[in-house]
Amino acid sequence: MIRSRIVGTGSYLPERVMTNADLEKLVDTSDTWIRERTGIRERRIAAPGQTTGDLAVEAGLRAIEAAGVDPQEIDMLIIGTSTPDAVFPSTACLIQQRLGIRPGAIAMDVAAACTGFIYALGVADRFIRTGGARRALVIGAETFSRILNWEDRTTCVLFGDGAGAVLLEASDSEGVISTHLHSDGINADLLHVPWGVSQGYDQLQGAAGTVHMRGNEVFKVAVRTLGRVVDETLEANGLSRADIDWVVPHQANIRIISATARSLDVPLERVVLTVDKHGNTSAASIPLALDTAVRDGRIQRGNLLLLEAFGAGFTWGSALVRY
Ligand code: UT7
Repeated sequence: MIRSRIVGTGSYLPERVMTNADLEKLVDTSDTWIRERTGIRERRIAAPGQTTGDLAVEAGLRAIEAAGVDPQEIDMLIIGTSTPDAVFPSTACLIQQRLGIRPGAIAMDVAAACTGFIYALGVADRFIRTGGARRALVIGAETFSRILNWEDRTTCVLFGDGAGAVLLEASDSEGVISTHLHSDGINADLLHVPWGVSQGYDQLQGAAGTVHMRGNEVFKVAVRTLGRVVDETLEANGLSRADIDWVVPHQANIRIISATARSLDVPLERVVLTVDKHGNTSAASIPLALDTAVRDGRIQRGNLLLLEAFGAGFTWGSALVRY
């Protein structure tokens, strides 16, 4: 049986750090409010002209280097993002050459908001399992700073920019064990950017192309839904909570992460937390957290990882991975 295994991870953060104190100068907020309600202390902001593709290239090259693989042997490049460089070509096509990936490989973007990396991982895993690809570079990359209303304190304090990547390779041994992908569009307007090419600006009645969120309502659905998807993942594999070595969650809010950890009975010491330093980087947050914990030695080969995310759509999902 062919499985996909993570053979390398990488990540990249833009240089500019924006602290909560910096935000106090922009909107009516405070460091205390942001830390207590979200756990965020600082986030990174892409430089003028630095695109999602630029961040993805850096993260992707680091994953390729960590794996020690010739990029010409990569069959598939898939990027989870909601902030692509262009309407088309896909960000994946735009950076394929810069990553050294051979012409003829599969390249595409997946739009599933904050669940984008889990969706991209699920798609790549299925390609590898069914023989459609042998090596897939899966990237989550975002420049949310470009779609924030910097006068709206309810959203602009939450997000940041960054990219993370994993290189998957076909293997006989255990790797990605299962992925669980879901969506329900019924609550689309609780978290959205109400702008789109097809919709046309005229029909928007003044709504700008920035993130709009009814945070408190999203929060409640997120906690409930993540609790369900982690149970689904364990049940599907006949595992118990004690089997999980590390939870690598989407980093939206420390209170959501803590609630999910509590429902799993996993102490916070076994949860990878980067929300304090990265903020919410949407599809980039899980691979950024994963690479951080791999590089600092917390996550070791053989560990069982539970990755989980919830985002606009709503979309949600999880992946159980033997690292
Ligand atoms: O990643 C995709 C999924 N996204 C999420 O999962 C995000 C989910 N939501 C959240 O993380 C939280 O709901 C937030 C962090 C966005 C907000 O926290 P909350 O505890 O739900 O606060 P709230 O929206 O109920 O607002 C409480 C108060 C309000 O004031 P009043 O009406 O009580 O006077 C807000 O106006 O906090 C006020 N407020 C702020 N105050 C200072 C909202 N934003 C700010 C701010 N600084 N930045």
